[in-house]
Amino acid sequence: MCGVMGYIGDENAQDIIIEGLRKLEYRGYDSAGIVMVQDGKLVVHKKKGRLANLEKELEKHPNESHIGIGHTRWATHGAPSDVNAHPHTSMSGDVALIHNGIIENYLEIKEWLQREHGSVFQSETDTEVVAHLISVLYNGDLLDTCFRAVEKMRGAYALGILHENEPDKLIAIRKDSPLVIGLGEGSNYIASDIPALLKHTKDVLLIENNEIVVITKKSVTVYDGQRNVVERAPYHVTWDAATAEKEGYDHFMLKEIHEQPKGIRDTLVSRLDAQGNVKLDGIRLTKEDLERLDRIYIVACGTAYHAGLVGKYAIERLAKIPVEVDVASEFRYRDPFVSDRTLFIAVTQSGETLDTLAALREAKNRGARVLSVVNVVGSSIARESDDVFYTWAGPEIAVASTKAYTTQLMCLYLLAIHMGRTLRTISDEAYALYIKELTAMPDRISGILKQENAIAAIADGLHRKRDIFFIGRGLDSAVAYEGSLKLKEISYINSLAIAAGELKHGTIALIDDDVPVIALANQDALFEKMLSNIQEVKARGARVIGMAKAHNKAIEQAADQTLWIPDCEDIFTPLLSVVPLQILAYYVAKLKGFDIDKPKNLAKSVTVE
Ligand code: M6R
Repeated sequence: MCGVMGYIGDENAQDIIIEGLRKLEYRGYDSAGIVMVQDGKLVVHKKKGRLANLEKELEKHPNESHIGIGHTRWATHGAPSDVNAHPHTSMSGDVALIHNGIIENYLEIKEWLQREHGSVFQSETDTEVVAHLISVLYNGDLLDTCFRAVEKMRGAYALGILHENEPDKLIAIRKDSPLVIGLGEGSNYIASDIPALLKHTKDVLLIENNEIVVITKKSVTVYDGQRNVVERAPYHVTWDAATAEKEGYDHFMLKEIHEQPKGIRDTLVSRLDAQGNVKLDGIRLTKEDLERLDRIYIVACGTAYHAGLVGKYAIERLAKIPVEVDVASEFRYRDPFVSDRTLFIAVTQSGETLDTLAALREAKNRGARVLSVVNVVGSSIARESDDVFYTWAGPEIAVASTKAYTTQLMCLYLLAIHMGRTLRTISDEAYALYIKELTAMPDRISGILKQENAIAAIADGLHRKRDIFFIGRGLDSAVAYEGSLKLKEISYINSLAIAAGELKHGTIALIDDDVPVIALANQDALFEKMLSNIQEVKARGARVIGMAKAHNKAIEQAADQTLWIPDCEDIFTPLLSVVPLQILAYYVAKLKGFDIDKPKNLAKSVTVE
């Protein structure tokens, strides 16, 4: 989704803004633009396509501005084009602004502006109406004007605003779209996300919903929706810029795949006490809390939803509490059974996914307690939850989620084990075994990563296929969904994941000798059934890439090629089996020569509905 970066200080604003936007490229975008104050005037440059196009344009207009705001746009209203790119300006050019989000009632505001003020619009965007609105409401005080403007606006927005009459001031507004303020020495910044700021400062202010911030070179003043000044301690970022760099890997995705042993170890260790018992400090899940629950909802999108499918299996199996898993965009519109006996678990890497946030609010309104599994500290979902279980994956930059998934699984396993032990639905022996198994997982994943070249060799040939299927049973079917999503989102190959036993009820009609099938047979309890499913697709001509635990050698006879995972308890196999699928997807996309970290049409953080 769109990226926002602004600067005010003594340095060259353009350089700092462009560099910040580059750090936000991972969010996904199709055009970029910047506005700076030059000789008292607002000067805008914007270009369709990559940041390089904008930079080329800027080379023709050297300047020494010390204040400006920039933007990378991910199109919602109006196609990607120079004119639809941000910043947008008012008719007279006195206001320029950038926006991440959607102004839901923009048509209503637009008609009012046309009728009452004769406004003429240049672009097809919702954003342009806000620039016109602020201009017509302006009364010599930009802050007061912004307060009056937001009263007329509905939707989601992180806005950065400049007014020609107040050239030493930048205003930022936030509602439901991410926004942070960077605090420097004699300089201040606005950004959509922390990596854009790290070169300049590690002290940030996390802006809450409905807050308006006035930023000058030397001051940052935050106002709440009632115009009261808000005092808030800065958040000190503990990771550095290098953590958000590629460090010699060709792509962030590959780097992040390799960071999984560390991510799951950090997530685990932060939740084990000296005796090796799960400690959920700060998360209220007592025996009484758990006994009161009549159901759990796990709600998420995309990869996080796939982690939720595994979470359901683990919680139902270990804690014997019924769990429903929902896609967030569906949950809120289906009138779900939620009460004060419901635990709602939101799973999200960014903590900003609007569908998940909206589902969370819906559940809260209906009385549920909300526990979130989140990677980004201080994100909207973390802040709006009753309890937060952080994944310690570190920043995930590639659009295709990898280490967020495995760390989410680790959190969900720990929750399931903790619930099972508290409710006495698992024995002490089983508890000890499960902790031992989880502790062994980082090294087991490292072992799989050593097979990278062998997995890359299997990718060769797959990249020419039009369709690829993933099949599995039980937990393997949940992982099949994730493997299939990984492949399609970065290689653009049509891929379908299906529970293996369901194939014969229709889908098998699509199998022929040009459709490779990736068959996950990692559950000992279902291994033989999977061998039969492999025979079914082979009989229709499919080339089968089978995956199994190291001791299940019979897979070699059944499949044409084999992927191996180390032996482990069935229930924990998803932590391992997803890794070869991530590597496979990566190398297929690489063979196709695609932009792996920034796949077409996708954004890292989906902050619109
Ligand atoms: O930040 P979130 O975990 O809430 O994001 C949810 C999905 O948008 C995300 O997992 C998406 O499916 C990834 N691109 C998958 O790789």
